[in-house]
Parts: sequence; C-alpha cells; structure tokens
Amino acid sequence: MRMKGKTVIVTGASSGIGWATASLLLAEGASVLAVDMQPGAPEGCQLLIADVTDEAAAEKAVDSLGHVDALVTAAGISRGRPLGDTTVEDWNAVMATNVTGTFIWIRACLKPMLTAGKGSIVTIASQLARAGGRNNAAYVTSKGAVVAMTKTVALDYATRGIRCNAVLPGAIETPMLARSMARAVDPDAARRASIGRHPMGRFGRPEEVARSILHLASDDSEFVTGIELPVDGGWLAG
Ligand SMILES: NC(=O)c1ccc[n+]([C@@H]2O[C@H](COP(=O)([O-])OP(=O)(O)OC[C@H]3O[C@@H](n4cnc5c(N)ncnc54)[C@H](O)[C@@H]3O)[C@@H](O)[C@H]2O)c1
Repeated sequence: MRMKGKTVIVTGASSGIGWATASLLLAEGASVLAVDMQPGAPEGCQLLIADVTDEAAAEKAVDSLGHVDALVTAAGISRGRPLGDTTVEDWNAVMATNVTGTFIWIRACLKPMLTAGKGSIVTIASQLARAGGRNNAAYVTSKGAVVAMTKTVALDYATRGIRCNAVLPGAIETPMLARSMARAVDPDAARRASIGRHPMGRFGRPEEVARSILHLASDDSEFVTGIELPVDGGWLAG
C-alpha cells in the first residue's frame, strides 16, 4: 500500500492512462479525485466532471480537498495534423488542454503542497516530445512544452519539498491511440509502422504507464525530480 492515506488528483481519469493510474493509486490506498470532462471513473474515486482549462473549477476542487499529496495530469487531446494543415482552432484547443490544463492544475495544487512542504507532481508528456513525430504538430509541440514546464516547476520548488517529473509514454493501447490510428489512410499499415518503432515490438498497456506514474507519485522516488521517464518499449533508445 504505497499510497495509504494519501490524497491524489488524477486528470483525464475517465479513460486510458488516467483511468489505469486512478485505479492503481486507489488499490495502493490513496483517496483519488478523478477529474475529467466526460463521466465515468474507476469505482471508489470521487469524480469531478470539469474541463481542465476551467481555472475556477480547479481552484475550488483543490480548496475543498484542503490537502493534496500528489497530482497526475493525464488529460490530453490530439488532432493529428501536420503543421501546414493545422488550424488555429486545432492549435489553440490542443495547447489549451495539454499545456494550459497542466499549468492550471499544477498551480492550484502548489498552494496546499507548499503549505505542507511536500508534494509530487507527475505530468504526462510523450516520447514524441524528444523524438519528434509526424502529422501531429500541435500535439508534439504541446508535449515539448509539458516537459519544459515540468523542469521549471522541479527547479523552482526543489528546496520546498515539491517534486515534479514527466512520464513519456510510447504508443499505448488507449482510446486516444485507436482514434489516432483510425485517422490514418491505412490504419492497419499505420499500426504496424508504429509497433515497428518500438524495439519491444508491441504497444504499451495503460497499466504499464500507471506503474511508472505510481513510482514517481509515491515516496519511492523521494530524491527524483525534473526527470523525463520514457515508458516506451525502447523507442527513445533507438
Ligand atoms: N495513448 C498513447 O499512445 C499516448 C502516448 C503518449 C502520451 N499520451 C498522453 O497520455 C495522456 C492520456 O492519454 P490516453 O491515451 O489515456 O487518452 P484518452 O483519450 O484515452 O484519455 C484522455 C482523457 O482526457 C480527458 N480529457 C481530454 N480533454 C480534457 C479536458 N479539456 N478536460 C478534462 N478532461 C479532458 C478525456 O475525456 C479522456 O477521458 C494524454 O496526455 C496523452 O497525450 C498518450
């Protein structure tokens, strides 16, 4: 029970990586506030249906909890277009959820974490933030921003008990990945090509990402801050 007695917020907890993370943190003894714009969260979570870009909702939720030990920012979207085909609406929507939503929830949680002198923040970027990626300009740019934000938070609050680390998943079997493959001209070929980029020869599972998030959210990683942890079947090694 590595999270016994801890209060944790997981954004994007109604699906995929966020769902798996909320489930694992619950199983490890945490009280979990699941935040998502769509209904549904693992049984046992408290659910807040909200857009992560809603600043007032974030502040109110954190105030009502009073104490937050860990925050996991898994809410994210992808529009899947090269830059030349990206509209300003696409760009702003992706930046709003992936970057501004991460900023808003980190800022809200910093207050109780600073009061307690302790807290762990885990952001979800992507291996594409480092490797680059085709046909997803706004998304890849947003994930680069998430990595940069993670490091600046880690540095600014390192002496005040707050850690901030990024997980960089490879392609993980979630509804987001299914939607992304469905957008390809030949989804089967896109799937094979993406699998082929992973030295392990397969996609990852949300539960595998959740276990790395647990490590960073818990006291097991007490001397770890500002890192980018790839959970990508070896993608970034190649
Ligand atoms: N699946 C992958 O291959 C993969 C790879 C690298 C990184 N990631 C990242 O992992 C995170 C989770 O992705 P996933 O694959 O589980 O996706 P998903 O689509 O299965 O789940 C994302 C969740 O975020 C929620 N969400 C989206 N926009 C929101 C908003 N504005 N406010 C509140 N909730 C919102 C959705 O409702 C959904 O429940 C994302 O940040 C994604 O970019 C995913």
